[in-house]
Amino acid sequence: MQVVLLGAPGSGKGTQAENIVKEFGLTHISTGDLLRAEVAAGTALGKKAKVIMESGGLVSDDIILGMIEDRLAQADTNQGFLLDGFPRTVPQAEGLDALLAKLNRSLNSVLLLDVDYNEIMQRLLARKRADDTEDTIRKRLQVYESQTAPLIDYYKGQNKLTAVAGVGDVDAISGRIFAALKAAS
Ligand code: AP5
Repeated sequence: MQVVLLGAPGSGKGTQAENIVKEFGLTHISTGDLLRAEVAAGTALGKKAKVIMESGGLVSDDIILGMIEDRLAQADTNQGFLLDGFPRTVPQAEGLDALLAKLNRSLNSVLLLDVDYNEIMQRLLARKRADDTEDTIRKRLQVYESQTAPLIDYYKGQNKLTAVAGVGDVDAISGRIFAALKAAS
């Protein structure tokens, strides 16, 4: 099973990803986590990414696609994977399709976590990560609208998109996601 988890910042992608990978035995790949690991290690990429992430912008498509290509070459992805926070732009989605075609693989499903922006603002202000200030959250939501939301139509066009209501009890949301993934596989 090869799945993309799509949703605005704070929609619960990371939270739900933990439950999904346990239920289906998938490898979790979060580009946000990969970038935060680079920042923590103080690499050249991490130094560049830190400034962009704290401003609420997106790291360049080339860098992200290179990271994903390296990650998908690792053996633990053969059991299936869940992509969290990637792709985030149409060029990233096109790059992913090309990369998977090269590997003779393809996506089974794209799940969209649907949460309204007021709820997102409350969740993220309560969390206090470095990029969770009110101004940065607003910028991240604008970037989501302009650069990531077009992926909804991109994946609808491939008949792969299922939207799941992402508000309320975490396990109840997971239950809806599990049902959607089982129906799609
Ligand atoms: P990334 O780490 O992907 O962050 P994000 O998309 O902004 O998402 P978050 O981690 O904020 O939220 P989430 O949807 O995972 O929700 P979570 O489960 O944490 O990216 C960070 C940055 O890295 C980007 O801004 C960009 O700069 C860069 N980047 C990453 N990928 C990139 C890419 N592909 N291309 C370019 N740049 C990239 O939940 C949020 C909070 O809500 C938590 O406190 C949680 O406990 C709580 N919560 C979760 N579910 C519920 C619920 N049901 N009810 C109440 N609270 C809940």
